[in-house]
Amino acid sequence: MSRVVETPAALRDGLIATAMSRDEIAERVMERGELVILKQAFTDETVTGVRTAVADWGRQVAAAELDDFTGNYHRRRVHVARIQQAPHVFHDYNFNDLAAVPDELQRTLRGFFEPLRELYNALTANEVRFEIPASGPYVHPQLIHYPSGGGFFARHWHNLEPQKLGFIVSMAKRGRDFRNGGTCFEIDGDVVDTEAHQEIGDILVWRYDHPHWVTQSDLKDKFDWTSDAGRWVATFAYFDPKG
Ligand SMILES: [Fe+2]
Repeated sequence: MSRVVETPAALRDGLIATAMSRDEIAERVMERGELVILKQAFTDETVTGVRTAVADWGRQVAAAELDDFTGNYHRRRVHVARIQQAPHVFHDYNFNDLAAVPDELQRTLRGFFEPLRELYNALTANEVRFEIPASGPYVHPQLIHYPSGGGFFARHWHNLEPQKLGFIVSMAKRGRDFRNGGTCFEIDGDVVDTEAHQEIGDILVWRYDHPHWVTQSDLKDKFDWTSDAGRWVATFAYFDPKG
């Protein structure tokens, strides 16, 4: 039995419309542990525009050496996660303070992340906002670039709460922007490779406690931090800097 379910979707008037009902999406993801892919929720033009604007911003702002949990920053990571010991190589772009992002980029980011926020709140009954509360966890819009030449993220996992379910939006086109690389999940002991299922503009919805990893991008290519080549995704995750 396939654990990957695909259903058509489209962005209309700022809302992500899905052929499958939102109740069914939530039930399949949370109760059955399936991976639901909302096909073509965003157009190539939209996600390429977001990706390009973020990459351009990253060329104007120096890469951070440390995380800034209240600000907007990007960081090149070659690390081994402290607790889970998961090695990873990627470049992430984090927008904790959307209101402080320059106007044009902010409009571009909100046009993309606000529909995701609406969908997420509907699927989880959470009420997230793009603001930093006085205490407790909050979500932050994020793009992750897995550069050609070996960007990857080894197997790791997250707590189910408070996130419940996650989004991985494919922001690059296979064959044009990258060739190889994708997200794998371990579900009830089986490995599910979503690489062949996810196309640019698709939203993958997954239960947040599935262990997962990201395979290496275009390993035959030269690794170059200054190149935009490789696989890009967008996510939408809670964290609690004091938690
Ligand atoms: Fe993760």
